[in-house]
Amino acid sequence: MITPIQEARVRIRTMTHEDLSAVSNIERQSYQFPWSHGVFRDCLLAGYQCIVLERNDEIAGYSILSIAAGEAHILNICVHPDFRSLGYGERLLDDLLFRARSSSVREIFLEVRPSNKHALALYRKKDFHKVADRPAYYQASHGREDANVLVKKLTTDS
Ligand SMILES: CC(C)(COP(=O)(O)OP(=O)(O)OC[C@H]1O[C@@H](n2cnc3c(N)ncnc32)[C@H](O)[C@@H]1OP(=O)(O)O)[C@@H](O)C(=O)NCCC(=O)NCCS
Repeated sequence: MITPIQEARVRIRTMTHEDLSAVSNIERQSYQFPWSHGVFRDCLLAGYQCIVLERNDEIAGYSILSIAAGEAHILNICVHPDFRSLGYGERLLDDLLFRARSSSVREIFLEVRPSNKHALALYRKKDFHKVADRPAYYQASHGREDANVLVKKLTTDS
């Protein structure tokens, strides 16, 4: 008899201080210049919208959104390397877009490295477009790397 493949249980919820070790662990596996544990703690303390995606009750991704002065800014979005290309990054991004719209925000911004092709593909798929460059914004192996600033206009149906 063939055993049916069990679909993973996925849910998105608010991040808590108890999640910070798991989140920092994914961060270290995902970025050459990761945020420290303290940066995530400060995001929670600052009241940013800090979100985790759980897969079978384990954290598989997270996202952080700041909303101020009528603008939303995506500060981080990341999926554990073992669980990429399963649609979780897009689910996290859709969740942030929903949260921004629910706060009556008209525009949502983010910075991304021009070398981050997978992230750029995700943002293009969701209709973000480039509005500016921030020169030498990111630390890099040799010197600094520019950031692309992307924006998406939010309407009730976009
Ligand atoms: C960017 C990131 C969040 C995408 O998460 P993910 O769960 O792998 O992405 P998804 O499976 O939801 O893919 C959604 C879309 O993103 C794009 N994409 C994601 N992975 C891709 C890949 N390996 N190759 C090409 N496009 C890719 C595609 O447009 C994809 O849509 P499609 O499946 O219809 O082609 C993930 O690669 C990641 O965590 N990277 C490290 C952290 C990071 O760089 N974050 C962004 C900082 S600005």
